Amino acid sequence: MPKVLPRQAFRGNLVGAMDATLTFLGIESSCDDTAAAVVRRLADGRAEVLSSEVEGQAVLHAAFGGVVPEIAARAHAERLDHCVERALAAAGVTLDQLDAVAVTSGPGLIGGVLSGVMLAKGIAASTGLPLLGINHLAGHALTPRLTDGLAFPYLLLLVSGGHCQFLIVRGPDSFHRLGGTIDDAPGEAFDKVAKLLGLPQPGGPPVEAEAAKGDARRFVLPRPLLDRPGCDMSFSGLKTAVLRARDALVAEKGGITLQDRADLCAGFQAAVADVLSEKTGRALEVYLAEAPPEPSLAVAGGVAANAMLRAALETVSAGLGVAFVAPPLRLCTDNAAMIAWAGIERHRMGLGSEADLTARPRWPLDSSAAPMIGSGKKGAKA
Ligand code: KG4
Ligand code: ZN
Repeated sequence: MPKVLPRQAFRGNLVGAMDATLTFLGIESSCDDTAAAVVRRLADGRAEVLSSEVEGQAVLHAAFGGVVPEIAARAHAERLDHCVERALAAAGVTLDQLDAVAVTSGPGLIGGVLSGVMLAKGIAASTGLPLLGINHLAGHALTPRLTDGLAFPYLLLLVSGGHCQFLIVRGPDSFHRLGGTIDDAPGEAFDKVAKLLGLPQPGGPPVEAEAAKGDARRFVLPRPLLDRPGCDMSFSGLKTAVLRARDALVAEKGGITLQDRADLCAGFQAAVADVLSEKTGRALEVYLAEAPPEPSLAVAGGVAANAMLRAALETVSAGLGVAFVAPPLRLCTDNAAMIAWAGIERHRMGLGSEADLTARPRWPLDSSAAPMIGSGKKGAKA
């Protein structure tokens, strides 16, 4: 446990003085990253990530071909307090210099979420600090404001191993979901394609590297749901199409060559890029119909690391006169700085502390949108 210091001077800046400097501790443990961070918002509106510690669990899950919830929860419970200690030390901040604790309270793998919520409650109870429960997806969705000070409303495309959705972000607590995947998330599809082609996990980077050596036109792969209106997407059939193409090659010649593999990766990546750019174009049209004063598209999630996808999204945005924002990757993927920041944003709106906070495995950001199907390898898609 971090050393608990008495709160020497409760800075009392949480109610009323909305433009005081705010320093929040963030805690994230909803999937397979154990993370803690300290973020400060200065009175003039500038934000500083004072520290952001992320401990991945890839090694622990490697033998199982996916995240094992029980192993993830145990690792979070064992590592989180050390992670918080390191985040405070790296930021040069003690508990008594914090203004509040923000913790991911869903959606995600429930055992992991509970580990974070219990630790955060312990810190809040022993220090008297206010405690804010944060929706993990809101953390991703508000990151472009932490990194680039983006003005509301903006369109966000969240593309990771567990999530894929378009959201119009109108305020810290106001999200309108335009559509998302009805089955696998794109990162999940990259991971599965890597697995069936004998490439390591996580699959995104090796599939991208192979694709650079391949011919995207050799295999004709489907572009699911492009023939249907709206912004919903599907990536599961695309992965199955890669599997069938691989099996056809094996049946024909007894195996696949390195060039076959590169061509399959290139074809798969091009299909994902086509689906994402077409659907992004549609989502941007819906968003632009609201006449936003500073039109912008932001991406978040690990798949945003893919250079071809980024370039495709940038082209679509530029064609519609929309600014394109991609936060640095370490803040695009799961981290706790985004949770601390979402806490600051919620607090500034006057959304208060929750002593009776509970962990929620499912928690859609836009409760008026239809629920997502499936729960995916990394927990509920929300
Ligand atoms: O956001 P993230 O770190 O974790 C969650 O899923 O929440 O995203 C990880 C996902 C993995 O599925 C990984 O394969 C994918 O992002 N990814 C990529 C690339 N780098 C990571 N997918 C495509 N191209 C990449 N370069
Ligand atoms: Zn995430």
